[in-house]
Amino acid sequence: MEQLSRQELDVIHGIPLYRPFVEKWAQVESFQARPDDLLISTYPKSGTTWISEIVDMIYNDGDEGKCKRDAIFNRVPFMEMSCRGFQSGTEQLAVVPSPRLVKTHLPVQLLPVSFWEQDCKMIYLARNAKDVAVSYYHFYQMAKLHPDPGTWDEFLGKFMAGTVAYGSWYDHVKGWWEKKKDYRILYMFYEDMKEDPKREIEKVLQFLGKDLKEGVVNKILHHTSFQEMKKNPTANYEMMPAWAMDHSVSPFMRKGISGDWKNYFTVAQNEIFDIHYKEQMKGSTFRCQMEI
Ligand code: A3P
Repeated sequence: MEQLSRQELDVIHGIPLYRPFVEKWAQVESFQARPDDLLISTYPKSGTTWISEIVDMIYNDGDEGKCKRDAIFNRVPFMEMSCRGFQSGTEQLAVVPSPRLVKTHLPVQLLPVSFWEQDCKMIYLARNAKDVAVSYYHFYQMAKLHPDPGTWDEFLGKFMAGTVAYGSWYDHVKGWWEKKKDYRILYMFYEDMKEDPKREIEKVLQFLGKDLKEGVVNKILHHTSFQEMKKNPTANYEMMPAWAMDHSVSPFMRKGISGDWKNYFTVAQNEIFDIHYKEQMKGSTFRCQMEI
């Protein structure tokens, strides 16, 4: 059985990233976007899989059988992904027929220029920093491509300092927030999706210029609920080899709620975090609900 040993992160253009991704960086930089590509961009643990499943359901007119044709990581390839023993994201995407769905976690300044040149539509999904930190901490433990997360307190320090994979959450959400002024970016929030998923699916439909009957929208709503996705092997990452993701440590579909951070942040951690958050987000009009 293959093994994946934890490795320290490398750095590319100032952003900490998994070493195998950095090794194949030239392929990412020269990636050729197509005008009808739809990019799904997020900071890790913000609900990428959720929005990906919704969009794939929309592309397949609510036919859940078609969406079960393959694992989510093959239906929506992860562009910058590279791992020994797997086809890289760019290799996978090269043979996907149009219109393609493309997943990325890259900060806006590292996105291959062809996406801007082709004026591709993009969906950016943000989630509140505290829940992202908690979710990321659990993901670091179960997904073996990460370095050791250390204790929760140590990990939270790294998250705030932006030394986790993909760098600073603050810069990530702000960078994409600014870019939406000039490009076709639908900027969404995980908390809004929890609050009213139907309303948010309607927003996506409008952005994509798609009109689906209410019954189909309801089917999408049901199929993409946390409970349904958690038991769906094509959505819950259980089709990943166990040496890469160990669901017995922490399932990929962990809790799927807003406000779980309250179960992890101590009062002191929360106070320090809030002060740091204010500093980091100063001057930005970005606003996000911390719970719903
Ligand atoms: P938690 O760890 O807080 O449970 P990503 O896909 O970007 O890696 O994000 C994973 C997070 O999204 C996990 O959060 C996961 O449980 C949550 N998630 C996945 N599908 C969801 C759904 N249908 N509804 C709500 N949350 C979902």
